Amino acid sequence: MSNESQQSIESMTPSEAGAAHAQLSEELRAHNAAYYQDDAPLISDAEYDALFSRLLAIENAFPDFRTEDSLTQQVGAAPSQGFTKVQHAIPMLSLGNAFDEDDVDEFLTRIRRFLSIDEKDPVEIVGEPKIDGLSVSLRYENGRFVRGATRGDGAEGEDITANLRTIEDIPQQLTGSAPDVAEIRGEVYLPKSAFQKLNETQKASGAKIFANPRNAAAGSLRQLDTSITAQRPLRMFAYAWGELSADVSDSQWGFLETIASWGFQTNPIARLCHNLEDVLRLYNDIEDQRATLDYDIDGVVYKVNRIDLQRRLGFVSRAPRWAIAHKFPAEQATTILNGIDIQVGRTGSLTPVARLEPVTVGGVVVSNATLHNEDEIARKDVRVGDTVVIQRAGDVIPQVVHAIAEKRPGDAVAYVFPTNCPVCGSEAVRDIDEAVRRCTGGLICSAQSVERLKHFVSRNAFDIEGLGAKNITAFHMDGLVEGPADIFRLHEKRDGLLEREGWGEQSVDNLLDAINERRTIELDRFIYALGIRQIGQATARLLARTYGSIDDWRTAMAQAQDRESEAYQDLLNIDGIGVSVAEDLLAFVHEEHNRQVLDDLGEQLNIEAFVQPANDSAFAGKTIVFTGTLEKMTRSEAKARAESLGAKVSGSVSSKTDLVVAGPGAGSKAKKATELGIEMIDEDAWIARSES
Ligand code: IVH
Repeated sequence: MSNESQQSIESMTPSEAGAAHAQLSEELRAHNAAYYQDDAPLISDAEYDALFSRLLAIENAFPDFRTEDSLTQQVGAAPSQGFTKVQHAIPMLSLGNAFDEDDVDEFLTRIRRFLSIDEKDPVEIVGEPKIDGLSVSLRYENGRFVRGATRGDGAEGEDITANLRTIEDIPQQLTGSAPDVAEIRGEVYLPKSAFQKLNETQKASGAKIFANPRNAAAGSLRQLDTSITAQRPLRMFAYAWGELSADVSDSQWGFLETIASWGFQTNPIARLCHNLEDVLRLYNDIEDQRATLDYDIDGVVYKVNRIDLQRRLGFVSRAPRWAIAHKFPAEQATTILNGIDIQVGRTGSLTPVARLEPVTVGGVVVSNATLHNEDEIARKDVRVGDTVVIQRAGDVIPQVVHAIAEKRPGDAVAYVFPTNCPVCGSEAVRDIDEAVRRCTGGLICSAQSVERLKHFVSRNAFDIEGLGAKNITAFHMDGLVEGPADIFRLHEKRDGLLEREGWGEQSVDNLLDAINERRTIELDRFIYALGIRQIGQATARLLARTYGSIDDWRTAMAQAQDRESEAYQDLLNIDGIGVSVAEDLLAFVHEEHNRQVLDDLGEQLNIEAFVQPANDSAFAGKTIVFTGTLEKMTRSEAKARAESLGAKVSGSVSSKTDLVVAGPGAGSKAKKATELGIEMIDEDAWIARSES
């Protein structure tokens, strides 16, 4: 895999940046999978580091791509309290995005290449509108609806069976012969017409107004009181499956027809396509109809029709290789820029936020938008008082695209970016090659302390139930929690907590219990929670895996302060850690105060050593070499399969090789394997073994 486009980030338009970001993320996900799951890195540390830094740099310049889904964040929608949690037997995955025709072309080419399908031979694609609702998974046993769950974070959702039973499109009993176990997945949505009516009723009764049909559908589904859900005319389109005790069809199209015969609603404007032109025609047709449909859609999903091909294509990390979402372009609107505020982030970054005259964009009222950074404001010459074009796409933060020059008020002055932190007043500086200006206040900056605490308790870090961003901010403001270790001393302040408005014996005790439960924590989570610059979940995991225990990690970090030391070399030798990450990490540990925080936390916590995940396939941990011509699958398919079974794939035979798969024409590698006495099998034997 290569990163062809090395266009300078400053010269990118937002859509170019989006495309580059998507491509990089996909590449990095593949490398992560190869690295973490298969222990078989495909590229060197330096290469990985360069890719990751570029992703970060794009996000620094275009912060709206720093979505929850981003590799740099990895924060999903956690199941909320109040519903029972459901583990999905088969994870509910997401889709990669295509933003233009080239992306779609590339998607189809990739599939052909992977499966080694000749250009003349058609690959059928099913195109379905991408419904902008909430995905759910419905479990049927012997034809009866037994349980329904939200997607949650993909691995675990919420049991909302009772609410789903109120939806007419969801059959309680399937007609026809379904497998004993059939999980049907699809999208629950609120029709646009119903959304408008609902908001009118809400308004009349002084209740909450929903921003868009999707939010209204979410609010309606996640009601603890089922009778409220029942009053909302929710609907559902079914389009995918989870666990099945028997195959339903050999194609996506056949699957849709079959589940329609069982009683589900399938989307009427989905179409079977035969080539790129067909697919793009469908996209245009659907886009033309978009406004007249009674449900929101945000793109078209393309899926390889044949299920045997879907299986061969498999998944890259969280998304299938056999499907992609072709998104509609961002929706735009014009409004007045009333002001520019500066937000201070966890690492001191100063981010300008546009305060806008509220305007509706794509069904959502927008009053804030990102201005990215200092250079972006200067480049676009956006001034307070300007009429600006803003856009939003999907769930990303709206952004200011440009100012309309003709509408500029005569007295509008160019924006001067502050050189001091607006919160603590410390100097804010910019590194030479950084787009971001940062407050140098460190710990004296309360904005940074709060952001760090928020990060510390966030979902992928300590994830303390009842202690989210809101409460931790309030506790910090009132002096109950200054640093992270104070959280684990909150029981000493039980009386203080009880005095707080809205807190009673029960809720305080629940909170203290939840805190106690988190005294034991995995090392990777712990390192991630520290909120060290550039140390996201992936890097934290690398560190945990490399050093094993907190003590060994700390010892190594102390030794690595000497840049001549072996410990420093060892750090740089970790695949995925380059000089820039290493320097940020060492700077953190070098800071006396941070070491105190680590000591302090160490006294409160039981930080578990990292346990290597087990993989029970016969190929787990084995090193395999493919040589000669493979006739039934391409090299990349063979490699992907081996890696998904936990094997490392190597390009050369050595004493560390466990197995050689040799096709016709295998030469020196086969010879060497024989000399070394390494097991050698042909392609058929490999297929048989890998499928068993
Ligand atoms: S297929 C393995 N088909 O899009 C892929 N998803 O970004 C399974 N969505 O979480 C998804 N319409 O909520 C698929 N016709 C459609 C869809 C669709 C909407 C949503 C779904 C999913 C998300 C992926």
